[in-house]
Amino acid sequence: MRATAKAHTNIALIKYWGKRDESLILPTNNSLSVTLDGFYTETTVAFNEALKQDQFTLDGQSISGVQYDRVTTFLDLVRDVAGKKNLYAAVDSVNKVPTAAGFASSASGFAALAAASARAIGLSLTDQELSRITRQGSGSACRSIYGGFAEWEMGKRADGSDSYAVPIAPVDHWDIRVAAVVLNATKKKVSSREGMKRTVDTSPFFASWVESNPVDLNGIKAGIKHRDFEKVGEIAEANCLKMHATTLGANPPFTYLQDTTLTVMQAVQAMRANGIPAFFTIDAGPNVKVLYLPENERTVEKTLRGIPGVTDVILSKSGQGVTYL
Ligand code: PMV
Repeated sequence: MRATAKAHTNIALIKYWGKRDESLILPTNNSLSVTLDGFYTETTVAFNEALKQDQFTLDGQSISGVQYDRVTTFLDLVRDVAGKKNLYAAVDSVNKVPTAAGFASSASGFAALAAASARAIGLSLTDQELSRITRQGSGSACRSIYGGFAEWEMGKRADGSDSYAVPIAPVDHWDIRVAAVVLNATKKKVSSREGMKRTVDTSPFFASWVESNPVDLNGIKAGIKHRDFEKVGEIAEANCLKMHATTLGANPPFTYLQDTTLTVMQAVQAMRANGIPAFFTIDAGPNVKVLYLPENERTVEKTLRGIPGVTDVILSKSGQGVTYL
């Protein structure tokens, strides 16, 4: 009745931006990510018949409120699938995701929670089934089941049964690196959940975003297959810019990009002009992630650290999928 799982965060190269079903967490487009070695969550789940409700500790602190509610709502789903309605759990999570790095710890968090709780309650799931359940905790988390590159297939069905991630290439296929550039920026005002919804509901650019995605997706998959870094980087950077462009058309308009974000974006493009292949991508926040190849690591790190407003640079290789400890 007890299991421990470890899951890494991932960074999307083709972004998930927009839901077609808010409660089941069903997206309006496929997305594709690389799982990152440097950032992970370890979670132990112990179901216990003596418990009257779930308990949740995160980094040693007992959690209540919205974070606790998201965990118990997710465990209800696992209990439902297992047919064990009133069996509560003690959940103990440790996050190795520096929150300042601007990685959604919800991706590694829900992937680890899903894996540990499913195993602890006695479910034996395929990766696809695990990814589908994980999706309902946090959308981007469903890609963290796999190492290397993973694609979340949006699916078509209203019940979400065909919406889950699949592996695209394992971690040893290609050593591509990601630098998380931490900025001296103000906290974001619009959550990814709210930002997506506002964009879907009001941005006239949203339809073209959805329409343009399949081309990016096919191109990047071919690029990954042939280890074509320029192609993968160019598509990832352009896809990120298109996602951020949709928010400017929303009502009221908003952006996650701050002045230091733009400075880093320009510095990355300047590196390219100087012959160093490096590309940026940015999620629903101000921090920038930079894709590069191992042979350019020293130059990329030095350049990024030298940019005014950059407070830290954390380097990562691509990482493994879920493991059990
Ligand atoms: O799963 P969420 O709600 O954390 O949304 C993540 C959305 C982006 O990070 C902006 C893009 C992505 O695909 O991860």
